[in-house]
Amino acid sequence: MSRTKELLQMRNQHVPQGPFNITPSFIKEARGALMIDIEGRELIDFAGGIGVNNVGHCHPKVVAAIKDQADHFIHTCFHVAMYESYVELAARLNALAPGDFDKMTMFANSGAEAVENAVKVARYATGRPAVIAFENGFHGRTLMGMTLTSKIKPYKLGFGPFAPEVYRMPYAYCYRCPFGLKYPSCDVACADYLEEFFIGNVAAEATAAVIAEPIQGEGGFVTPPPEYFPKLAAICKKYGIALIIDEVQSGAARTGKFFAIEHWGVAPDIITLAKSFAGGMPLSAVIGRADMMNKPHVGGLGGTYSGNPICCRAALAVLEVILEDGLLRRSAELGEILSKRFAAMAEKVELIGEVRGKGPMLGLELVTDREKKTPATDQAKKVVQRCFEKGLVVLACGNFGNVIRTLMPLVITDEQLDKGLSILEETLVEASR
Ligand SMILES: Cc1ncc(COP(=O)(O)O)c(C=O)c1O
Repeated sequence: MSRTKELLQMRNQHVPQGPFNITPSFIKEARGALMIDIEGRELIDFAGGIGVNNVGHCHPKVVAAIKDQADHFIHTCFHVAMYESYVELAARLNALAPGDFDKMTMFANSGAEAVENAVKVARYATGRPAVIAFENGFHGRTLMGMTLTSKIKPYKLGFGPFAPEVYRMPYAYCYRCPFGLKYPSCDVACADYLEEFFIGNVAAEATAAVIAEPIQGEGGFVTPPPEYFPKLAAICKKYGIALIIDEVQSGAARTGKFFAIEHWGVAPDIITLAKSFAGGMPLSAVIGRADMMNKPHVGGLGGTYSGNPICCRAALAVLEVILEDGLLRRSAELGEILSKRFAAMAEKVELIGEVRGKGPMLGLELVTDREKKTPATDQAKKVVQRCFEKGLVVLACGNFGNVIRTLMPLVITDEQLDKGLSILEETLVEASR
């Protein structure tokens, strides 16, 4: 029996099925955009550990920072004895985040925890209870994260009751417009709808925050039109509601800009960041208006491991790679290469209903009928499976599981990219038959 089979048996015996696996591989080494499993199989990585490896697996600068910090101290707890990297990282993020106002940043361990803290801060600062989230949105698996999340299976079914005072609005999903309208003649009515939402669903005066992903990640890389966030932000401002932009998946150069929301020219009141910004270490950030972030009383925010020194050093190294070593430029360039390849694929592969996203954060929504837009859920599943068999790890997403998304490390070489895209294209053609 192969070692992989042995480990799979152990996995099934000792680990519950809840923590899911997309591939049956066990990894021995990973560098850049390549993973090598314990059988010596090479896998081109278009998943990036679900959007975590923008700077690539084991980036030398990140590894060096982790090793150096581990040699000095691993944990003191920021609340017990502070360290430079926490404060430095906060200062850098405050300077980087959009908005001509003072900002403050706190750290947590995961995307979901950043979301929890963003909601806590918004509630405390506004003195209001309600939060408005969106259809197709995903914000994590903790109680508030899962409550804010839209998709029922697998994220919510059986895990209720959910947190109170969460309301859900339709999103700017133009390909399947919830209002049955067409962009641009719709005049982005889905954003204006927020004011109507206050009449029949929850009062503006009771609403602490509106939380949205600039590009919905798990929800299918749904990408609103340019007018959407400026309109939403203006309504939030009018009613004193905090606009929380969840950049957990879209941030850290994923879209050709450091924060995806920069594409819309909007300065959120609060931003959540995680995944790629610490190069694979468990770290998340809540960056927000100083006057909001500083409202909660001393001891009201924090956590034992939050802003761990090794994670903070890794994140500082990631910032250096993204901002000083030209990775942001490479991200934009990758976006152009991918857009062209996908546009050409969509010409010949009937299965591709829409290509959407920003920079290299692109999704292909697969449909069995372009007119009716019937979700090609089974085909998407097969594409993921067949790509894996051919040496490419790629992920699906979307409420129907019919969107193939690209989250490859931005350090991917042109050859690896070309090989991966050829596998994907060939597999999409096969799945169309
Ligand atoms: C937009 C968004 N928010 C929150 C989360 C939750 O992050 P984590 O899995 O680190 O808790 C995710 C994870 O995919 C995400 O994509």
